[in-house]
Amino acid sequence: MTSTIARFGVLTISDRASAGVYVDRGGPAIQEYLQEVVVSPFEAVPLVIPDEQPQIELALKRLCDDDRCSLVITTGGTGPAIRDVTPEATAAVCQKMMPGFGELMRQVSLLKVPTAILSRQTAGIRGQTLIVNLPGQPKAIAECLDAVFPAIPYCIDLLGGPYIETNPARIQAFRPKAK
Ligand code: MTE
Repeated sequence: MTSTIARFGVLTISDRASAGVYVDRGGPAIQEYLQEVVVSPFEAVPLVIPDEQPQIELALKRLCDDDRCSLVITTGGTGPAIRDVTPEATAAVCQKMMPGFGELMRQVSLLKVPTAILSRQTAGIRGQTLIVNLPGQPKAIAECLDAVFPAIPYCIDLLGGPYIETNPARIQAFRPKAK
C-alpha cells in the first residue's frame, strides 16, 4: 500500500441497528478504541448493514478492495442464531484464515463470560487486508481487541501495509524483527 494514512473499516452487522430499531453502539465503540490505541495517522470507514451474507460479503469486499483498508473490524453476527453469518461471510471473502485471533479472543472472553464459547468469531486475510470479527456486545470490543491488538501492526507490516504505531501506555505493539 502506498498511502501512509491507514484506513480501518468498522463494519457493524446487525439487523436491528441497520433498521434503526436501536442506535449502533458497537461501531462507535470500535472507533473510540482505535482513537485511544492508534497514534499513527488513520481514518475510519464505518458501515452498518443487516445480517445478510451477500451484503456482508459485498461490504467486506468494498472495504478491502475499493477503500483499501489495512484492517477491517466487524462487530456482530458471530453467534449460533440462524441469522448469525458473519464468520461464513468472512471465510467466503478471505484467501487465508487466521484462526489464532478467534482462539485467543474466546480464551480471554471466557474469563469474563461463560457464554464466550458461543462466539464463532474468526479472522482472515483478503488481499492486503486483515479482517477481524468481534461479537456484537459493545463491552466485548475492548475485551477482545486488547488481547489481539499487540499482533495487529506486525500482521499489517507482513501484508505490506502502512506502519501502525500504538500508544504504548495502552497497547504495546510487538514486532519480532526491526523494520
Ligand atoms: N465475548 C466477550 N468478550 N464478551 C461478551 O459479552 N458475549 C458472548 C460471546 N462473546 C460476549 C463474548 C455471547 S452471549 C454471544 S451469543 C456470542 O459472543 C456471539 O455474539 P454475536 O452474535 O453478537 O456476535
